[in-house]
This record gives sequence, structure tokens and C-alpha cells, in this order.
Amino acid sequence: MKQPSEIKSPNILSVKKVLVISLMLCCIVIIASAFKQKINSPGIAIAVNIANDDSATSAQAFLQVYSVLMSPRCMNCHPAGNRPLQGDDNHIHTMNVQRGKDGKGLYALKCSNCHQAENTAGLHTPPGNPKWQLPPADMKMVFQGKSAHDLALQIMDYNRNGHKNKEQLLEHARDTLVKAGWNMGGDRTPPPLAYDDFVKAWDTWINNGGYAPPAK
Ligand code: HEC
Ligand code: HEC
Repeated sequence: MKQPSEIKSPNILSVKKVLVISLMLCCIVIIASAFKQKINSPGIAIAVNIANDDSATSAQAFLQVYSVLMSPRCMNCHPAGNRPLQGDDNHIHTMNVQRGKDGKGLYALKCSNCHQAENTAGLHTPPGNPKWQLPPADMKMVFQGKSAHDLALQIMDYNRNGHKNKEQLLEHARDTLVKAGWNMGGDRTPPPLAYDDFVKAWDTWINNGGYAPPAK
């Protein structure tokens, strides 16, 4: 008569064991998932906020950059046509100066004939820089007439920005030809932002994702 109970008791024991173990497992799973949610949910919320803030911060910074790009000191070398522009009113460069294939002028009218390495003293004299030229004919980098949306997309586009990656784009704000925009001599109006503020806005724009402001 002892045999059945002897057989039974270990059975009951093992059922209890299984119950206890599964209960513990349940607890662990529940606690773990609760814990995970607690960690995750604010994390996800923050990530979403950052993404939104990033694109807004970036696009906002580009609007500042854009005000500089569209200023005569920059746009005069980024014309829609094949002739540079001049002056605060962006009139077409006198003397029929042309872009040429490489951007350095056509035939005898090379930019460097008149534009020296340094500014020429006086009013209405050619500004100077060793690299003075237009972008080449096969990569015109037009600013004139572009909306902020279109220009942001163009500059972030490797195939339209002179094959610049992110690092090279960041570097470009430090380019001497860009800096020249703040030192063109004569009575030429400087760009609307101070140079350092331009660089700051440029970096903010690109480091936060290089977003374009919405199309109007
Ligand atoms: C024959 C001489 C001559 C040649 C060649 C020449 N320039 Fe000029 N450029 C001038 C003079 C002079 C001025 C200043 C005009 C003024 O301020 O009234 C000037 C002004 C400019 C300006 C205006 C600067 C500003 O912000 O107002 C730009 C841009 C420019 N040149 C680009 C070029 C480019 C690019 C080339 C070559 C494709 C070139 N120039 C070839 C004489 C020349
Ligand atoms: C003397 C003419 C000249 C002036 C002035 C000039 N640029 Fe440029 N810019 C160029 C040339 C040439 C290139 C192409 C060479 C290169 O990519 O390094 C270029 C390229 C660029 C590019 C990259 C091309 C793109 O559209 O993606 C940017 C951005 C730029 N310039 C900004 C400026 C800003 C900002 C100013 C004014 C502060 C300025 N430039 C004034 C000649 C000029």
C-alpha cells in the first residue's frame, strides 16, 4: 500500500516545482518587460524629439546660410547664366566676360587678367583672390533664382556640389574664395551675417543633417 503514495509524492513535488519555477519565470518576464518599458518609452520619445528638433534646427540654420548665399558677394559668382554678375544690384559683368569651360574665362578674357591675387585698391576695381573664377560649365552651382529649398538640396547633392562629401562641405565654409565675400574691397556691401556667424550656421545646418527648408 505504500507504493502508490511513494510514487505519487515525488510526482506532486515535481508538479509543485514546475509551478513555482514557472511562476518565478513569469514574475521575471513581467518585471523585465515593465523595466524595459520604463527604460525604453522615454528613450523612444527623446529619440523622436531629437529627430524633429534636428531637422527644424538644421533647416532654420540653412535659412541664415541662404541669406548669405543670395547676397551679391556670393551670387555674383553663382549666376544662372554664363556671365558673372557685378555690384550690389547683380548686373551682368561688363566687357562681355564669359564663364568658359573651366570657369576661368573665355579666350583672352581670363578672370586672372584683371582679378589679381589681392584686391586692387580703389573704387570699382576688381576684387582679388588667387582662385578667382566661376564654377565650371559642367558644374555651374547656380544660386541665382533658387529657392532656399532647392538650393539646400543642390548643395547637399554630391553630384551637383562639385563632388563634396560632408567633411569637404564643412571645410568649404573655410575656403578662401568664400571668405573673400567678406573682403571684396571698395564700397561693396558685405553679406548680411558676420563671417563667424555664417560658419556657425553652416556647421549647424550640416551637422544636424543638412535638411532643406520646406518648399514654398
Ligand atoms: C577685363 C577685366 C576683367 C576680366 C577679364 C574679368 N573681370 Fe570681373 N571685374 C572687373 C572689374 C573692373 C570689376 C569691378 C567692377 C565694379 O566694381 O564696378 C569686376 C568685378 C567682378 C565681380 C563683382 C564682385 C562683386 O561682388 O561685386 C565678379 C563676381 C567678377 N568680376 C567675376 C569675374 C569672373 C568670374 C571673371 C572670369 C570669368 C572675371 N570677373 C573677369 C574686371 C574684369
Ligand atoms: C570669385 C567667384 C566666387 C565667389 C565670389 C564666391 N564663390 Fe562660391 N564657388 C565659386 C567656385 C569657382 C566654386 C567651385 C569650386 C569649388 O567647389 O571649390 C564655388 C563653390 C561654392 C559652393 C559649393 C557649390 C554648391 O553650390 O554646392 C558653395 C556652397 C559656395 N561656393 C558658397 C559661396 C559663398 C557662401 C560665397 C560668398 C560668401 C561664395 N561662394 C562666393 C566661386 C565663387
